[in-house]
Amino acid sequence: METTTRRTALRTGLAVGSAALVPGAILLDQRPSAAAVIPRSDPFTLGVASGDPEPDGFVIWTRLALEPLAADGLGGMPSSTYQVNWQVATDERFENVVKAGATAATPAWAHSVHVEVAGLQPGREYWYRFRLGKHVSRSGRALTTPALASSPSSLDMAFVSCSNLPAGYFTAYRRLAEERPDLVLHLGDYQYEGGGTGIGRQHAGPETKTLAGYRQRHAQYKTDLDLQEAHAVAPWLVVWDDHEVDNNYADDLADRPVEQPGFLDRRAAAYRAYYENMPLRRRSVPAGPDLDLYRRSGWGDLATFHMLDTRQYRSNQACGDGYKNCPDADDPTRSLPGFEQEQWLLDGFRDSRAKWDILGQQVFFGRRDNNPDPATTTVGMDAWDGYRASRQRITQGWVDAQVRNPVVLTGDVHAHWASDLYLDYDNPTTPVGSELITSSITSGGNGYDEADGTHPWAAWNPNLRFWTNLRGYVSTTITKTEMTARFRCVPQVTVPDAEAFTRATFVIEDGVAGLQQEQAAPVPQLRSSRTDEQKIADTIASETHTS
Ligand SMILES: [Fe+2]
Repeated sequence: METTTRRTALRTGLAVGSAALVPGAILLDQRPSAAAVIPRSDPFTLGVASGDPEPDGFVIWTRLALEPLAADGLGGMPSSTYQVNWQVATDERFENVVKAGATAATPAWAHSVHVEVAGLQPGREYWYRFRLGKHVSRSGRALTTPALASSPSSLDMAFVSCSNLPAGYFTAYRRLAEERPDLVLHLGDYQYEGGGTGIGRQHAGPETKTLAGYRQRHAQYKTDLDLQEAHAVAPWLVVWDDHEVDNNYADDLADRPVEQPGFLDRRAAAYRAYYENMPLRRRSVPAGPDLDLYRRSGWGDLATFHMLDTRQYRSNQACGDGYKNCPDADDPTRSLPGFEQEQWLLDGFRDSRAKWDILGQQVFFGRRDNNPDPATTTVGMDAWDGYRASRQRITQGWVDAQVRNPVVLTGDVHAHWASDLYLDYDNPTTPVGSELITSSITSGGNGYDEADGTHPWAAWNPNLRFWTNLRGYVSTTITKTEMTARFRCVPQVTVPDAEAFTRATFVIEDGVAGLQQEQAAPVPQLRSSRTDEQKIADTIASETHTS
């Protein structure tokens, strides 16, 4: 009944509530949907999303698809341009619609819809939805950020990474959605490029290399109802890692020489499909193999999010990638974000007025030395450990700029970790920042827990404060006095609907760099009997595999 009412209201041109608030909206809404024939079945199979919030608005997204798994990547849509209507309301029932309009969904952009909604009030909740003919999408919840000069008291933010569909069910996304955060950060590996099968779910199509393939892959992921819930609950700030394109690629270099011919065309296809399927602003419309992704987002004077792209501009991995003792990792002419983005970040530290400066990025920032001998440093070449001069410039940058509370957020490694950050990892005396690393949503499968939450490497890497090899996400509460991080875990991903629990809680106090542990709650039956050597092998394997 509710549905009928909503649909009728939409069909009759937003004649509910505050139509008077949106002059012009009714005219727009009643415009016929071009010459295209409205499909009979529901075209909103991929859900809705919002992103890149600002004080006056956000992006709302959807993509029309009748057959999401169509191999040509076009979702079974006729090759017509459709006018898709949209509404933004201050209430969940859309009784008070404050913005509305229509926008074109074209076959050239795989019938994706991106609307930059503006003119909204800062620091409040909204709901949005789309309509095509008689079909109305589900609604989504979005928030505008507080005004730049305002002083919000708190922010609930969750961050995630590494959702590999064949590796398991995306239950962690659903549990995250149930917390109704204000903001979600996706730190990369939103989808995986491989073909292959998994635990009952499998990727449609072979390894993604073409625009059709990437579009089909994105569409398949977006059909996941747990993922749809997470998108619909809050605006997302997304940045990618490698698997949105190709395992461990670096700028214009493919992972393996055999994949190098035509790699920039592949990157262009992947970037285009990424834009089409993410709630990104027009500034991120790709131009060939280039997509402008790194950006800042503020939450009043409470937090600034510096969202980094550590793939598109990076120097090649030193010493051929992998875990190496490699002097080239110290070469100052190499950079992980690229020198332009590095400078942008350093400028951002200097200009920041925020209480919390948060880096949303992909790969491990703190040191993780695999070799207990202090004279030898064997570390991952794909992470900041493989770009040590670059890491040093950034760490020194926030020290020089007297950044009040630098916090690095990380994905990629398919395990929860927490790390203090130092200027000199050989002499770790006083931390200068903190790093929170989220596990994967599914990558790596079920995983296991560890009684004391300690990785074997912590014995000679004192910055490493916590580790569990379970899947999950991190939910945080950020206030003027502290940032609290809850490491949320699901016991398994091979069955749907697992309950989530908080494995550990860390607090960072305002003005006190470094992590303070509040709570640890291991689940005895999830502990493994794996030896330290096996755990280290698991860690390295999970970070160097192609998925
Ligand atoms: Fe990953």
